[in-house]
Amino acid sequence: MTLTSLKPMVETILLNKESSLETRLFEICTLLEANVSYYNWVGFYFINGNKNELKLSTYVGEPTDHTIIPFGKGICGQVAVSNENFIVPDVQAQDNYIACSIDVKSEIVIPIFVNGDNIGQIDIDSNTPDPFSEKDERFLEFVAETVAKQLKGSLFN
Ligand code: SME
Repeated sequence: MTLTSLKPMVETILLNKESSLETRLFEICTLLEANVSYYNWVGFYFINGNKNELKLSTYVGEPTDHTIIPFGKGICGQVAVSNENFIVPDVQAQDNYIACSIDVKSEIVIPIFVNGDNIGQIDIDSNTPDPFSEKDERFLEFVAETVAKQLKGSLFN
């Protein structure tokens, strides 16, 4: 399945208000992991209250010990402070990297913004070396923006 053809499915899942937001985020993880061969671990981290750390929300893939990540630590913690997408073609070449599984070769992290604030991120690990391109960035930015709209709604409705 192409990334473009997944977009309407992402919207359908996120607009289904009969499910909790957590369930919908889990369904997004499931959809992405099942339909993109090189997306092997898909999860959401969000800022943990008023602490300078990220907390793992819902995910699909191998369980990880890294349910809390301090700002600045690892790829995820760096994105929490840089507010920028981070593509890692080869995780072994990174000094500031938190390993979850020896199978993981590469990673992409895309921040989620609500009202201009970086409130969390989509994190994807791949067992394939260097698989991510601008197409993944644009697609995952779309997912992040669609999630952000729902988060905005859940905060103010
Ligand atoms: N590799 C991440 C940690 C989270 S796991 O990929 C699920 C990092 O360096 O921040």
